[in-house]
Amino acid sequence: MGQPARADRGDVSALNELKSQGKIRAIGVSNFSRAQIEAAGRCGTIDSLQPPYSLFWRQAEKDALPYCAANGLTVLAYSPMAQGILAGRFGAQPSFAPEDHRKGHRLFQPDIYPRVQEALERLKPIAARNGVTLGQLALAWVIRLPGVCAIAGARSAAQAAENARAATLRLSAADLAEMDAIGRTVTDGLDDNPVQWNF
Ligand SMILES: NC(=O)c1ccc[n+]([C@@H]2O[C@H](COP(=O)([O-])OP(=O)(O)OC[C@H]3O[C@@H](n4cnc5c(N)ncnc54)[C@H](OP(=O)(O)O)[C@@H]3O)[C@@H](O)[C@H]2O)c1
Repeated sequence: MGQPARADRGDVSALNELKSQGKIRAIGVSNFSRAQIEAAGRCGTIDSLQPPYSLFWRQAEKDALPYCAANGLTVLAYSPMAQGILAGRFGAQPSFAPEDHRKGHRLFQPDIYPRVQEALERLKPIAARNGVTLGQLALAWVIRLPGVCAIAGARSAAQAAENARAATLRLSAADLAEMDAIGRTVTDGLDDNPVQWNF
């Protein structure tokens, strides 16, 4: 279920029926607020939530993630590398192909992007001392929480293989604390709107 407007009783009940028949294994929603998950959950069992979530995009921590942890929903975090920003894909002057929707990402706004660049510089030593790439570091940070998985976008087999290796990285408490502080230098300047893009 991709859009909140579809979370009416009929949709969830129908999915529940398919699940009880063994035709689907789980019911997931995406971009739902806590209130929307609760509403959908009153009509059936929701198994997972797919929110945007990364070290630089943490609005889900406010209520959706705690709700999922308390109620046994698996979290499938999308854009776990902030669409490549946390993998170090972009320099100080990012340029995009005309069709690349990432040019509308709010982290590229001029009031935020310099802080993004500074934060990435501070993350590099942490990646280096763990022997991983920035992207792997970002993915390991997302999956540090029980019940949270990362949907890592990959454009090539090499990227996919590199990203998969993040699953074996265990960050120390000290590294996690340092990353938390670095990430907040970006996220403290953001509002509560979970939508990553200016459309
Ligand atoms: N439910 C929703 O509303 C929603 C919204 C957005 C995405 N999603 C899902 O979430 C998935 C992942 O999210 P996402 O693509 O937005 O963001 P992401 O996983 O944070 O970033 C993906 C981008 O990071 C770069 N990248 C990936 N692996 C890399 C590596 N090993 N080294 C260097 N750069 C690397 C690539 O950039 P380049 O392309 O520049 O190489 C790739 O396009 C998508 O595939 C999609 O299925 C869902």
